[in-house]
Amino acid sequence: DRQGFAHFMLKEIYEQPEVVRRCLATYLKPDWNSDRDAALPATPFNLAFPEALFAVAEIQIVACGTSRHAGLVAQYWLEQLAGIPTRVRSASEFVSAPFPLTTNTLTIAVTQSGETADTLAAIEVAKKRRSQSDVSLQSWSLGITNQPDSSLTKAVDYTLPTLAGAEVGVAATKTFMAQLVVFCCLALAFAVRRRVLSPQQLVDTIAALRLLPDQIETTLKQQHEPIQTVAQTFTDVKDCIVLGRGMNRAIALEGALKLKETTYIHAEGYAGGEFMHGPIALLDAKVLVIAIAPAGNVYDQMLANAQKAKTNGAPLIGITNVTESSDRAVFDHQITVPAIDELLSPFLTVTPLQLLAYAIAVQRGLDVDRPRNITKTLIH
Ligand code: F6R
Repeated sequence: DRQGFAHFMLKEIYEQPEVVRRCLATYLKPDWNSDRDAALPATPFNLAFPEALFAVAEIQIVACGTSRHAGLVAQYWLEQLAGIPTRVRSASEFVSAPFPLTTNTLTIAVTQSGETADTLAAIEVAKKRRSQSDVSLQSWSLGITNQPDSSLTKAVDYTLPTLAGAEVGVAATKTFMAQLVVFCCLALAFAVRRRVLSPQQLVDTIAALRLLPDQIETTLKQQHEPIQTVAQTFTDVKDCIVLGRGMNRAIALEGALKLKETTYIHAEGYAGGEFMHGPIALLDAKVLVIAIAPAGNVYDQMLANAQKAKTNGAPLIGITNVTESSDRAVFDHQITVPAIDELLSPFLTVTPLQLLAYAIAVQRGLDVDRPRNITKTLIH
């Protein structure tokens, strides 16, 4: 039931505030109250892992498509926040080129459906290699999935459900958002156990997480119309480059994937700095550039990348929460999201890209919920 929405994709984009609320209600202890620090429980997270698992030396993430992009955001959180070396590999690549065997390793498989053949194969390869190894390697496997009774769950030691509810639209939207929430709680839980996060940082971050559902709602309300206008302007664009830095590089990849699969526009996501090393030669007045530029450490560099793109003639859309008028002049179109710590910015920068892909696909008269050539779950 589309509940009055024109398509499942739009309904599912609009369900995201509720999905985040539900995931936080599950993974955050309700009695964790940042106003009374004194009485705080040892950890604010409901994650029942053995103590040794929190001491892992390395995390390896395998996934495909959108789920892999969630893994790339998580890589940033796990490395920069929790200080754990983390690698991400496409499940299909991992099967023939697995990571070297290491001890004290947590392997995480992320899959919305829990049935993606490549991801299941990757988990099997990881398990088989460990069991055949001469040395006994301490290792764990964890599945993050929206289908707790799927094949993935049977293959891993632990499962964290994403609680997004059934996703009907082929383009993954709300399940990506839910994967981000689970990963963020996981990275924070590791950071707390490993004592690399100050109590104040933790209190602030939890408080910021709790604001997310309302902020996503605000983004949906305020940006629906502006994004319609932008979609009309760029309905016939053939090529699009999405730029992001840091965590938002993964959101650039995800935004480009949403555009590709729903609108069939040739879209590519790049790290802003890396884009300068060759790909920038692509730009002219016909190539749309979208710059993800939230306030924070990489804002100035991102703005410099955007400026460079504009100098090369490209029309420029900015997704930002910086509203100073001098900066606004850089972007031909500005999509404004609520102010948020850079660390949590992916939660807010992804929604405008989902909405834009949806709106352009509708403008183009395409079957948004069932794009050509792809199925919801890729089972060989
Ligand atoms: C993107 C999309 C695909 C899936 C990929 C993995 O919108 O739908 O890229 O993300 O096929 O699927 P799961 O997460 O079910 O393993």
